[in-house]
Amino acid sequence: MKQESGRGSFSGKLGYVLATAGSAVGLGNIWRFPYLAAKYGGGAFLLVYILLALTFGYAMIMSETAIGRMTGKSPVSAFGSFSRKRLVRAGGWINAVIPMLIVPYYSVIGGWVCRYLWAYLSGEGGAMALDGSFEGFLGSPVATELCFLAFAAMTMAVIFGGVRNGIEKVSKIMMPLLAVLTLVVVGFSVTRPGALAGVKYFLIPDFRNFSLMTVVSALGQMFYSLSIAMGILITFGSYTGRDVDIERTTAQVEVFDTAIAVLAGLMVIPAVFAFSGGDAAALGKGPSLMFVTLPRVFESMGGAWIGVLFFLLVLMAALTSSVSLAETACATFEDELGWSRPKAAALVSVILAALGSLSCLGFNVMAHVAPMGMDILSFFDFLTNSVMMPVAAAATILLVLRVIGMDNIEAEISRSSAFRRRGVYRFVVKYLALALLAVILVSSICDAFGLIHI
Ligand code: TRP
Repeated sequence: MKQESGRGSFSGKLGYVLATAGSAVGLGNIWRFPYLAAKYGGGAFLLVYILLALTFGYAMIMSETAIGRMTGKSPVSAFGSFSRKRLVRAGGWINAVIPMLIVPYYSVIGGWVCRYLWAYLSGEGGAMALDGSFEGFLGSPVATELCFLAFAAMTMAVIFGGVRNGIEKVSKIMMPLLAVLTLVVVGFSVTRPGALAGVKYFLIPDFRNFSLMTVVSALGQMFYSLSIAMGILITFGSYTGRDVDIERTTAQVEVFDTAIAVLAGLMVIPAVFAFSGGDAAALGKGPSLMFVTLPRVFESMGGAWIGVLFFLLVLMAALTSSVSLAETACATFEDELGWSRPKAAALVSVILAALGSLSCLGFNVMAHVAPMGMDILSFFDFLTNSVMMPVAAAATILLVLRVIGMDNIEAEISRSSAFRRRGVYRFVVKYLALALLAVILVSSICDAFGLIHI
């Protein structure tokens, strides 16, 4: 199916849902969600996350997809097609730049996954369960850098080779497998002695664990996990025909993505209680949480094969996501600067190698470089999720309110959907979104500079 412009388009509804879900499910669900939920309030975090996804996330996905479908363009040109004003185009650019900053550190974590997969394949999986093994790995510049480069090379090989369809086919089979395997690990994890306290901590909101940071981190995580505020959904929307009910597909993607995140939480958090005591220090481990906890679970499940299978599936999920991040970055250079694909891909490779290496070295040789008191990887994560994405989201909301107009965007959505949640959409876009974004942006910046403690 082709649209008049000659732009390729998804083959109907299923194609759109699969592509969106494929980009949504990745390390964000499996690695990032559990450590944030563990650190920032357990059940309170989960509740805030779900509420945000159903209101704010819903409105953002709908807006971005509708903008893409109205214009048939990728973010910079989509913004530009409504107005030639510099400020409006800048709104498109900030959306487009974010993937370029995410893909390097995403690939560093992808490298950690490669390291663990290799350990389980070569029969050293047991050693990964020992205290300090993850820290030991991070401390080695050569090991972390090599693993990062391995993952980055796989990503760029797909981009250069143009075998994107191939890996998507593989991932269509592997994603459901990942869901099933996660369920098996969850079953095991929640039945360990002492794990029940973790299940309670994660599923039952206790507002003594709530802080402003719960909302800040939940919002950043929602953007990240649903791939919002970086132009990807605008691009996907541009491939979408008028036959696709955006409202329904949005709900499906949200449910699927959140379900995987909740399962990952149930896999990791109870295990923190069962194997590492569940105190604040164990829960607040941050980015290393999954890598420290899961090997202990696999060890007590008594099989290296489960480690091999698990990390292989996570690797696939991570690879599909990093490929689509890198692809968006390339597409921006191709579309906006008129570059050839190899030239765009070469520049993306250089950015990827440079910024990714910085993130790796931040854990060892460059550990003394700690921007705002964070390691370099956490700094990139903070910069993109807590600073740039709120700004990019605000740009999209302002575009809808000031330039496109509520009536026009609602008309676009209504072309294909019954638009049952029009009231929610309108309320969020008109009243909630900008206020919440401002609070989040100001408080996360103040927190980072130590002006307030939230
Ligand atoms: N949502 C992905 C995850 O949860 C990460 C991600 C953010 C992403 N933006 C993206 C993936 C854009 C693909 C395209 O891991």
